[in-house]
Amino acid sequence: MSAFPADFIWGVATASYQIEGAVDEAGRGESIWDRFSHTPGKILTGENGDVACDHYHRYPDDIELMSRLGVDAYRFSIAWPRIVPEGVGGVNQAGLDFYDRLVDGLLAAGITPYPTLYHWDLPQALEDDGGWLNRRTAEAFADYAEVVVDRLGDRIENWMTLNEPWCSSLLGYMAGFHAPGLTGVENGLNAAHHLLLAHGLATPRIQAAGCNAGIVLNMDHMVPASGHPADHAAADLEDQKFGRWFLDPVSGRGYPRDAVEDYGWDMAVVRPGDLDLIAAPIDQIGLNYYSIRIVRSDSVTEADRTEVVAEPTEYTEMGWAVAPAGIIPLLERLRDYGYERIYITESGAAYPDVQDDRSYVDDQDRISYLDRHFEAVSEAIDHGVPVKGYFVWSLMDNFEWGFGYSKRFGLVRVDYETQARIPKASYAWYRDYIRSARA
Ligand code: FCB
Repeated sequence: MSAFPADFIWGVATASYQIEGAVDEAGRGESIWDRFSHTPGKILTGENGDVACDHYHRYPDDIELMSRLGVDAYRFSIAWPRIVPEGVGGVNQAGLDFYDRLVDGLLAAGITPYPTLYHWDLPQALEDDGGWLNRRTAEAFADYAEVVVDRLGDRIENWMTLNEPWCSSLLGYMAGFHAPGLTGVENGLNAAHHLLLAHGLATPRIQAAGCNAGIVLNMDHMVPASGHPADHAAADLEDQKFGRWFLDPVSGRGYPRDAVEDYGWDMAVVRPGDLDLIAAPIDQIGLNYYSIRIVRSDSVTEADRTEVVAEPTEYTEMGWAVAPAGIIPLLERLRDYGYERIYITESGAAYPDVQDDRSYVDDQDRISYLDRHFEAVSEAIDHGVPVKGYFVWSLMDNFEWGFGYSKRFGLVRVDYETQARIPKASYAWYRDYIRSARA
């Protein structure tokens, strides 16, 4: 097995809408994912997060599962509509109480909480007012962040503002695959700007409470399909539109120029001073890594390609190429951008997960996936990348957004009929891996 620093953080990750359920309980307001998942045709399986893993009620069992797994840390998200049901205005103490109990339970079990303040479940009331197309949503987010940090900041050191703003803007407002299901390039880019602004406004408020703040970005490693310069240019453009669209402004480099031009974005929503706000210094950054993408330019014919890159041969149940080494250049980039505390905030895989008659899943495919990704991360550390921790996606099977419950990413199987949690082979493997990594 690979070597890791002694203080490396081993963790697991989840997100509120994907696991909590209890959508009508204790004063929680409606979120855009409630509305979206209840809209016919939006979720592949017609399912929703009304019950999900019932974590809202079963969180003590889930803490116990993590405790037996032996993780150092747990990355979860806080549901904004539990805290501020209408998005702005009245704070719901019962919502704060839930996370208070969760955090105390984690700490009692010796597990460090790493919350994310926004993992896509925007209060529907804000969406009714334009959602992320409305600049005021960014201000509302900063106020909400302050409320949460006021309550929990005495026990939590490390906070993340947003999870994968690429998804919440471009999938949610440009492609329509995610809530709220809007479309249009302009919408997507404007939503992205307001999300980034939300991050920039919330960051100093979190830090004012003496806590660390950061953002979680998803990036695919873009691989030019061949040595042809046009394929290289196409891969670079894709990279600008995906990871760098968020990384660059957060890092004080502004929006990537070729991508702005290619989109034909007028930048009308960008007000003077916004880019400085967005570039508020952060203490840490999270990378969610799942795959690579092989990018080819439309202008090149196959005959003109030399040094053609081989297509991946291995895919997960999501249809994502398995490419552990792709994480290395992404991590090196974060190092080169000057980040000194980098976390892999998500990495993991969905597989068919055939169960035996005791519901046990011998997921050797997932074990192999994780093993190879850990190895790649250890190699990046050898290259001088300051990776501080790794959060496996996910602790347990859960509501996989547009795919409903049809995709399973968990180390623990969830029987959605009974809510039984059945640890898979990968759970025991990860437990042993953590033990040996510490030894
Ligand atoms: C990421 C999301 C996470 C989960 C994984 C599979 O994009 O952040 O909630 O759905 O993908």
